[in-house]
Amino acid sequence: MLRRLAKEQPESFAFTSRNLAWAHAQMSKFPEGRQRSAIIPLLWRAQEQEGWLTRPAIEYVATLLDMPYIRALEVATFYFMFQLQPVGRIANVQICGTTTCMICGAEDLVAFCRTRIAPTPHTVSADGNFSWEEVECLGACSNAPMVQIGKDYYEDLTVEKLSALLDALAAGQLPVPGPQNGRFSSEPSGGPVALRDTQGGEENNASVALALKQRDTVKRIDGSEAPILTPWRRQPDTDEGDGDDNEPEPSRGRPADETGVTVQEAAGTSAARPRSKREPAGAPADAKDTE
Ligand code: FES
Repeated sequence: MLRRLAKEQPESFAFTSRNLAWAHAQMSKFPEGRQRSAIIPLLWRAQEQEGWLTRPAIEYVATLLDMPYIRALEVATFYFMFQLQPVGRIANVQICGTTTCMICGAEDLVAFCRTRIAPTPHTVSADGNFSWEEVECLGACSNAPMVQIGKDYYEDLTVEKLSALLDALAAGQLPVPGPQNGRFSSEPSGGPVALRDTQGGEENNASVALALKQRDTVKRIDGSEAPILTPWRRQPDTDEGDGDDNEPEPSRGRPADETGVTVQEAAGTSAARPRSKREPAGAPADAKDTE
């Protein structure tokens, strides 16, 4: 499926100071020189900030990660999670159009979205609330046909059920994600034939329960999320000493050898070391046999 950048682009992009701090924290997860491994979370954050992924945002992230623009473009244009066109204010509906969903009615869902949202994909509806697109298999084939809206899947759909979902979202409600035909997961529609004791219900479906509790189905990142913790990063000095009290300094005071490496050796006389005839008490670790 062809994925192109939008024709109309904003002039520029920059992370907010809070998002920039978050981006640097993400980058710190990777070894020095490998910061470009953080490309997907940074592109995602840029999209969450803007609502869709603009060309200036892609280039900004590439610059931040010290990588060629084309590499960042390759990532952004490959994954359906990245929206390269403006999307609806409330949600972009991603309809799976691959074989199983197509056989089970995806084409009806597409036809419905053409009339309810906009005649063409990647077009924002007249009220600005929704947009839609067809995507490849989303891995929920047992519950076909299905759509992804925001961060959740809505499965076992009919046109009527998708219409009700959009009505609920437009009214500011939070529809329950998952199967829309009463199934708990992907058991047979007549009920489970194995594991019959498995209880259904939203509270027993962890991802559904979390979506309802946090209400983040179509919510964009707004700063209320759990903060990213980076205990591996150095903390700034808070005193006037000559070092950082928060960090161990195993090489402090030891000269580097000619290769520039500071060799560290465990003390051979540690009380924790086993003693033997080959290693008398108090002998260094590489002591020769003294027999
Ligand atoms: S074919 Fe639609 S989820 Fe796999």
